[in-house]
Formats: sequence, structure tokens, C-alpha cells
Amino acid sequence: MTQIEFRSDNAAGVAPEILTAIGDANTGTAIAYGADDLTASLEWLIREVFEHPTARVFPVTSGTAANALSLAALCPPWGSVLCHDSAHILQSECGATSMFGGGAVMRGVRGNDFRIQPDTFRAALEAVRWGDPHHSQPAVLSLTQPTDMGTIYSLDEISTLTAIAGERGLRVHLDGARMANAIAALGCSAADVTWRAGVDVVSLGATKNGALSTEAIVTFDDAAADELVYRTKRSGHVTSKMRYQSAQLHAYLTDDLWLRLATNSNRQMTRLAAGLADLGVEFVNRPDVNMLFARMSDDVATELEAAGLLFYRMPGSIRLVTSWQTSDADIDAALDRFRTVCEDAA
Ligand SMILES: Cc1ncc(COP(=O)(O)O)c(C=O)c1O
Repeated sequence: MTQIEFRSDNAAGVAPEILTAIGDANTGTAIAYGADDLTASLEWLIREVFEHPTARVFPVTSGTAANALSLAALCPPWGSVLCHDSAHILQSECGATSMFGGGAVMRGVRGNDFRIQPDTFRAALEAVRWGDPHHSQPAVLSLTQPTDMGTIYSLDEISTLTAIAGERGLRVHLDGARMANAIAALGCSAADVTWRAGVDVVSLGATKNGALSTEAIVTFDDAAADELVYRTKRSGHVTSKMRYQSAQLHAYLTDDLWLRLATNSNRQMTRLAAGLADLGVEFVNRPDVNMLFARMSDDVATELEAAGLLFYRMPGSIRLVTSWQTSDADIDAALDRFRTVCEDAA
């Protein structure tokens, strides 16, 4: 029986267009460490895609690096980064931001649907002892879009939160490990969901959506960009063969490839979620993009695994993620197997 992949969008392969771009970049020689023509032109492409005349871009090799280096550039060592309780930077990056940020503290903020709400954000800010040197001083708001649990912030919600951050002088970071999925779901532009909504620095994901160990930091804040020149080097992210990363990001952002890939993964999740809802499966989250947490007993989860479905198990639920590679046939076959297992369990 063939296995059907829902563990992670990281489990998917590299998109053919991106592999071709790597091959195309592999002719002759080019100067190292990002001084090549492809990397130079990437900055112009980023400015076009994000409609921002002074945006800058720093290719890095992982989302954790993009987050930790961005936040370190925005937060002083005595500062704190406020993020949702469930944020990857807080829960799943082994304190990378605190390490690169010279001890900067991460503070979780509550909020329904895995999103920070204006009232929970204001309450977190009001609880701070501002100006007290015994207390870390909030310096950055970090939003995850889409969230780690597959929900998205509307543009108004982002603007409201960034305006509150601005009242207290906080700068704003966006963890966009799956940003293309959010843009595809919202039907907005890259500018709308970032700097126009008050975001200063973005971790722009690409690997989960078809690239090969390549992500980027995109800045709309010159001071952060000036620091990132050195922070990326000190942390080992100014790779000597950066042209291959730049070639991928070029292909990714050209002719809306990133949005086309994300549109497929979102669409496949919509189909999967609709089919599961018909079977009476309950969801933990609202599957706004390509990720679904479905309530499932351990016994049923074991039966689903035996039926060749690959997913992560959580206490009382399973995590299902679709990708650019998920096909209509995958979803049809998966739903057949869910139906058989759920009917047997009923
Ligand atoms: C929301 C989010 N941010 C950041 C990351 C980190 O990416 P990486 O695993 O490339 O370090 C992930 C990875 O799963 C993620 O889901």
C-alpha cells in the first residue's frame, strides 16, 4: 500500500521550477559570498514583489536562523520579544533568539485561535514594569502568519496589533515560514500583509513551499538591515555559494510560483478538511491554510497509520499538513482510507 504524506510540508520535495533554476545557475563561475549578479538582482526582485523601494534581502538556510537573526537585529539584549504562546520562536527553536539576541527574553501572549488579540496584547504590555531595570523591556512584537496551528490573521488584525506595538515603541517581526500560504488564502499582496500593515522585518519562508534549504530575511527597516549584514556573517549564513540560494528565491518569486505552489497546498487542505468534516471528524483549529489538527483517539490514529497515512500524533489529535506536492489523487485516496477506518471504529 502506498503511503500518503501529511507529516509536514517540509517532507515534500523540491519544486521542479526551483531545481531547474539551480541547474541554470550552475554554469561557469561566479564570485562568492553573495557578491554575484543573481544575488544583486534578487534585491531588485524583492523590491518589486514587496512594492518597497528600499527593501533588502538576506538569504539564510533555515527558518530558525531567519527568525533568530531578525529578532536579534530588532531587540536589544535587555529587551523582550512578545509572541503568541504557541509561536515557533518560543516553543520550537531551542532559545535561538535568546542566544543570538544576547539574552533577549521571549514572552508568550495568550489569544484564541492561536492568534494574539488586541486585548491580550494590551494586557501583556500593561503588565510590564516599564523603565524598571529588573524587568526585561518589550522591544518587539513577533507575529506568525500563518500561525503554527494553521490559522491566519486578517490584514486589519495585523494593522491593529502593529499600531498598539507602535504606541509603546515596539518594532514588528513577522514569522512568515508559510507566508505564501497566508497570501494565497487572503488574496492580498506581499506588501499588504507586511510593511503596509506595519511590519518591519519578515522571515520569508521558501523551503516548506518547494525550495531547498533556503529562506530569506526581508527588511523594510534600514537599521535592522545594516545590522543583519554582520549578524548573518557571524552566524555562518553568508554562504560562499549564495548564488544557488538566490537562484531559488528568484524562481520562487517569479511569475507567482510561490503563490501557485501555496494555492495548491491550501486547496488540497480545503478538500481534505471538507471530506473529514463529512465523516464527522472534529477539528482543533480552523484550517485557514494547509494545516489541520483533527481530534482523534490513539486507537483510531494507530489504525490510520496502519492504513498508510503519514501524520504527526499530538495528545488527542493528529496533525495533517498538505504541500505543493499533494495531488487530487492523494486526497481522494486518503479520504477513502479515513472513511474505512472511521466506519470500522464507529
Ligand atoms: C512557523 C514556523 N516558523 C519557523 C520554523 C522554522 O523553520 P526551520 O525548521 O527551517 O528552522 C518553522 C518550522 O517548522 C515553522 O513552522
